[in-house]
Amino acid sequence: MNKNNQLGIAIIGCGYWGVNYVRVFEELPETYVATICDQRGERLAEVGRRFPNAGLTTQLAEALNDPNVDAVVVCTGAHGHYDAVLAALEAGKPVLVEKPMTTSVADSLELIDAAERRDLTLMVGHTFLYNGAVLKLKQLIDADAMGQLYYLYSRRTNLGPIRHDVNAIWDLAPHDISIFNYLIGRMPQWVSAVGSPILGNCREDVGFISLHYGDHIVGNIHVSWADPNKVRELVAVGSNRRIVFDDASSLERLKIFEKGVVQAEPEAESFGEYQFLMRDGDIISPRIAPSEPLKNQCRHFIDCVLNGTQPNTDAQNGLEVVQILRAIDRSLAHNGAPIEIEPIAITTSYAELAMAAD
Ligand SMILES: NC(=O)c1ccc[n+]([C@@H]2O[C@H](COP(=O)([O-])OP(=O)(O)OC[C@H]3O[C@@H](n4cnc5c(N)ncnc54)[C@H](O)[C@@H]3O)[C@@H](O)[C@H]2O)c1
Repeated sequence: MNKNNQLGIAIIGCGYWGVNYVRVFEELPETYVATICDQRGERLAEVGRRFPNAGLTTQLAEALNDPNVDAVVVCTGAHGHYDAVLAALEAGKPVLVEKPMTTSVADSLELIDAAERRDLTLMVGHTFLYNGAVLKLKQLIDADAMGQLYYLYSRRTNLGPIRHDVNAIWDLAPHDISIFNYLIGRMPQWVSAVGSPILGNCREDVGFISLHYGDHIVGNIHVSWADPNKVRELVAVGSNRRIVFDDASSLERLKIFEKGVVQAEPEAESFGEYQFLMRDGDIISPRIAPSEPLKNQCRHFIDCVLNGTQPNTDAQNGLEVVQILRAIDRSLAHNGAPIEIEPIAITTSYAELAMAAD
């Protein structure tokens, strides 16, 4: 802490997204950015011109040894998360790591173990779970406003930005997977997925993922960075209502359609065939208090660090998303075959589980 009682933050990886963390932690009254670390000297200099009070380094060890650093944000590409998070935990610092937490289940388990052994906060940046519209949607589902939840589907498409470290599914679908799990309140039982490297890359540029949550609840996620139409939409359909979350709309981010389809009693002479009734009603767009999801997420991280509380998007949450992504990889490799997801029961040590995983 500095003399103003502010926590010093180190940002590791300061590319397209990391610079947003620098801005947010500089804006929050409880924190300041002590150190920015990026391997690319020219990027570091560029960010340093915008934030002249932060220390700059290209060396991870130097950032972690800085005595002003109380907590660390890891925002490198996905393949760099494991090494940087482990080094930060070993240096005794609480960590907020971007999604996906790691690129393998074994690595996620090892990080959970490393954080637990040192009693350090390890939180994952599933930013959408700090988005006012998603929180409102969850409230509506939990208050039974949907009636019976039938299914969820989402579309996250745009032309670029194309990443060169992971495919479009690992890049974009963690958002939707984390939202689906949160809204439904559990992990899917099995997934199946198809995708294609349509741009001639060695990785999938487009993916269609089906998730089966049990109790007849299903989800579908379509991601693409090779689509000229930018869509950021998630739809929940239930027996009473259909709710649309449109993250690209500044005015009506959540729209509640008071429409639904319910089963009527089967008629005796219809041989058990069900009749369906359509409910029709208003379209309501509830007011969502304006707030920046990333700032809400960073504020929550600081609360957890200061009060020792469990993050809403903790490392277990991060592990679950990685488990689902790995199952999707296996399904892709087998032309969309269904892949079961076994919940990980932590009965033995994390290290033993890690050796058996992936
Ligand atoms: N939550 C969100 O909405 C959201 C949005 C975009 C990106 N992300 C996530 O943020 C992370 C970064 O994405 P990005 O788009 O900024 O990528 P990027 O490639 O633009 O930036 C990554 C930066 O990390 C640096 N770097 C890599 N390894 C490093 C190391 N060991 N030490 C120091 N610096 C290192 C690179 O030089 C680069 O500047 C990814 O995990 C991505 O999934 C999240």
